[in-house]
Amino acid sequence: MPISHLPVMLDETLQALAVGPGGRYIDGTVGAAGHSRAILELASPGGQLLGFDSDPGSLEIARRNLAGFEGSYLLINQNFATMETAARAHDFYPVNGILLDLGLASMQLSETGRGFSFQYDAPLDMRFSPEQKLTAAEIVNSYAEAEIADILWRYGEERFSRKIARRIVESRTLKTTVELANLVAKTIGRSGDIHPATRTFQALRIAVNEELPRLESALEQATRLLGFGGRLVVISYHSLEDRIVKQFMQQESTDCICPADLPECRCGHAARLRILNKKVITPSEDELRTNPRSRSAKLRAAERILSREEPGVSLEDHFFLRERRTRVARYGLEAGLPTLRRGPPGFTAGSICPDKRRAAM
Ligand SMILES: C[S@@+](CC[C@H](N)C(=O)[O-])C[C@H]1O[C@@H](n2cnc3c(N)ncnc32)[C@H](O)[C@@H]1O
Repeated sequence: MPISHLPVMLDETLQALAVGPGGRYIDGTVGAAGHSRAILELASPGGQLLGFDSDPGSLEIARRNLAGFEGSYLLINQNFATMETAARAHDFYPVNGILLDLGLASMQLSETGRGFSFQYDAPLDMRFSPEQKLTAAEIVNSYAEAEIADILWRYGEERFSRKIARRIVESRTLKTTVELANLVAKTIGRSGDIHPATRTFQALRIAVNEELPRLESALEQATRLLGFGGRLVVISYHSLEDRIVKQFMQQESTDCICPADLPECRCGHAARLRILNKKVITPSEDELRTNPRSRSAKLRAAERILSREEPGVSLEDHFFLRERRTRVARYGLEAGLPTLRRGPPGFTAGSICPDKRRAAM
């Protein structure tokens, strides 16, 4: 298997997903398919995987790394915020587990020409998907100063956001990553271990790819796609993502979300998830030694439960729950969820899905 990205917290992820034979899984961020391949290995025989990635280059690498599993997976070159529409179109639900391993793969960071890193001089692009119009160059060269400051503050938590935004506007036109990194370094100076442009680059990438609203949307969609007992596992790499995941899981594992001072519940909210790890999971010392890029990773996992007032539970969902209970009772297996009856159409090619229709977010 060609090495292009080391999957982060692989064992912890497989355990949290409770991968078992015959299971059906969604990987929302296939990347180089490190996690996807391990999922398919554990899910065989009969396991199936539906994978998404906005970056067609990642999916090409993934397809090579999934050699031997043809017919068991389908890769879709779309944002994971289209996951529900795509999964339903392929009759791929309910699922046993969904993984989101957010951010960038190592090969994207080191790929010259993508503009994700200031280690390599490249045009200010930063798009995951080449089909998208907005680039980082457009933001720095055409947005108003206040808008740029807002992006740097909100998505980079950059305390010198206004100062940097002012210098960016004064220095237009900015073309390359190194130009921007040098400008930020000159504007705020160097202090601490991390390069002063790190937060600016993170903020621009998040804005270019609309990462946070798409993550919020994907978490909601994932919860709807999970069968009862199915697992949602998210690995995030910065506090903004982790906060969204944490708050979502907290809210969805709570029956009533009314303000504490209301005497009685008015929201009618019913918990759909059970949080599996109260304390966030982080990479082991061993992993940090072998893969220093994993250092900021945080894993959170939750299980889909039958909610207090499950509206419109389908017969298929009931079967899913019943089969799982029987299986757990019979074999004592927490993993090893049942194979679902209907195989998704279009699962013969085991390659990149030719269907490039974009579903609305
Ligand atoms: C950290 S890497 C995943 C690595 C993968 N788990 C592996 O083991 O090889 C994240 C991948 O998700 C993709 N990605 C990030 N945000 C996405 C989104 N909103 N929709 C689809 N793909 C996304 C990136 O292009 C990248 O390939």
